[in-house]
Amino acid sequence: MALKYLFTLFTFWYLTIFALFLAYSTVESQSKFIQRDSLLNRTDLPKNILAASSFGGASHLVPMLEVLKILVDRGYNVTLVAPGNFTANSESYRSIPQIISNNEKGSSLFSNQELFKKLCVEDLDIGTMWKVFDPELYTKNYNAFKRATEEIDVDLFFCDLGINEACFDLAWQLEKPVVGFTSVPLFVFGCHVNMENETFYERFKCAIIKPLEFMNVFETLARNLNNQRVNLGTEPYWNPRSKIENILFLFDNFFGFETPIPMLPLHHEIGPVLPDSFPDLTPAPDSFLNTHPRIMYFALGTNIFTSPQNIAILLKSCLELINQKIIDGVIWASVKTNITELMSFSNDEIPISNILNNNYPHIHITKFAPQFAILSHENTKVFLSHGGISSSHESIYTATPMLVLPIMGDQLANAEKLVLTGMALRLSKLNLIVDDILLKVKRLLDEESFKKNAERLSFVAKLNSKRKYRGADLVEMVMNTMKYDGIKDENGNLRVNNNVLLRDLITADTRMGFIRGNYIDVYGTFIILVLALIGGFGYAFLKVAKYLYARYKIRNSNSKFKKE
Ligand SMILES: *[C@@H]1O[C@H](CO)[C@@H](O)[C@H](O)[C@H]1NC(C)=O
Ligand SMILES: *[C@@H]1O[C@H](CO)[C@@H](O)[C@H](O)[C@H]1NC(C)=O
Ligand SMILES: *[C@@H]1O[C@H](CO)[C@@H](O)[C@H](O)[C@H]1NC(C)=O
Ligand SMILES: *[C@@H]1O[C@H](CO)[C@@H](O)[C@H](O)[C@H]1NC(C)=O
Ligand SMILES: *[C@@H]1O[C@H](CO)[C@@H](O)[C@H](O)[C@H]1NC(C)=O
Repeated sequence: MALKYLFTLFTFWYLTIFALFLAYSTVESQSKFIQRDSLLNRTDLPKNILAASSFGGASHLVPMLEVLKILVDRGYNVTLVAPGNFTANSESYRSIPQIISNNEKGSSLFSNQELFKKLCVEDLDIGTMWKVFDPELYTKNYNAFKRATEEIDVDLFFCDLGINEACFDLAWQLEKPVVGFTSVPLFVFGCHVNMENETFYERFKCAIIKPLEFMNVFETLARNLNNQRVNLGTEPYWNPRSKIENILFLFDNFFGFETPIPMLPLHHEIGPVLPDSFPDLTPAPDSFLNTHPRIMYFALGTNIFTSPQNIAILLKSCLELINQKIIDGVIWASVKTNITELMSFSNDEIPISNILNNNYPHIHITKFAPQFAILSHENTKVFLSHGGISSSHESIYTATPMLVLPIMGDQLANAEKLVLTGMALRLSKLNLIVDDILLKVKRLLDEESFKKNAERLSFVAKLNSKRKYRGADLVEMVMNTMKYDGIKDENGNLRVNNNVLLRDLITADTRMGFIRGNYIDVYGTFIILVLALIGGFGYAFLKVAKYLYARYKIRNSNSKFKKE
């Protein structure tokens, strides 16, 4: 591989010099200029987009809706299908009509609430994790999406990746182009995000054993999915990649925070996707922020919670931090915390009821908080967070050092990445210790490097936050390709083959097969040739050495013989 790149680089270098030479020779002195025409011809471009998410959930939908809003502004007809009554009640996304799938509250995703609670509190394996989700989700989603396609002439599907096979399947079935979107980074469960310094054992485990383990779990899931597919009259398949391989994918993330990897031309990073405006501070947190110059903001997102024991330890740490004058105030957005359960941990040392009633002057309790506005305030010095992707992006954007307490899923990977950037330290939900928390908050405030690294990353995030427009551009590109490559059926609807629609972006290796695609045949032959050559030389050398030694011996014995 290295050799190939070196050769490419070498060729590129020569060609560049050649091109420069040509360019130089064609530039002539010119006095008049014309404006480059950048208008796009959008006449006859297919216009109806159906966006579908299985998760729903306000903070999860926001990045996707930001891209869709740009498309609405450009004249596209966008409809969202997702659980929960979201866009109608949202000031920012009211322009996007929503069809409510499943149920109104959007909680059906986690059909097993008991297990979800365990997942938040305990350390569960991947096999148990899947059981949290509704096993009939595929059928419910498929039916909801299908009903939507009967109301709208969908030209393009915009599918959120998470547990959303129905969206991709329907697009392929109706032969419509499909664009994937994910704000949750992909990672290997139970492995480090960067394997650079890991032992051979760890690397073997993560490259071979973990994927096999996953395949084992996946087989059960795939069988269940295929049963549902057959019942719905769609084609079953086993390779989960087959419907997402040759399509455009937008990732709401950015290198700097994300572990750097080479990316396919079909995959585009467009993150961090953030709204242009956020809810402002209400008077209570505003005055609290203005009167406390060193604040820690504590929030675990909108869906996640931790055990009441952990909350009690965290509150005790807050009191201790204020006592020791490391910080002078805490804002806590309690959101999903079960107050009844928490109360049983109240005692003289941690007067929880007192704190919860906002009687304690240096701890401000609120159920919900305008998070971005709090993080933007100069007096917010540390963010104690679960490390969800949008909280991480907001903290990076506002250059706020983080103390991360990951609870589940991608949060563990996010926490590791944040620590690697040098702007965060992490805690373990299974082993929370007051002294450890004090030490870490003290380090985050005292050591300059945390703030410096946060500021460095903030600059990158601000530059990259413009890329949501790029995301919308790419969706338009797919629409335009469809305009030219789609085949009209008897009803005048355009149909496409997603396997070849974006052929300009599909790398040749995917068509060449594993061995040819990875040049294993070529490099294999090369290695065999080198080995044969080395072997040949070695053999010849051995022969010559033997011959010389034999001659030397004969001469020696001859001279001995002569002497005698
Ligand atoms: C835009 O494209 C349409 C066909 O899709 C064509 O008829 C029209 O002439 C184009 N307009 C311009 C300004 O090129
Ligand atoms: C947009 O969608 C609405 C219904 O959802 C439909 O009435 C309208 O014709 C669509 N516009 C275009 C340009 O397809
Ligand atoms: C969704 O919310 C809007 C605005 O509050 C309301 O008018 C509408 O009836 C709600 N839809 C459903 C299905 O509850
Ligand atoms: C691996 O070790 C090298 C050398 O100590 C260091 O520069 C690098 O940051 C480490 N990488 C990770 C992911 O920890
Ligand atoms: C809080 O916990 C108690 C006891 O475990 C339970 O009965 C109650 O339903 C919970 N409340 C909420 C809002 O989950």
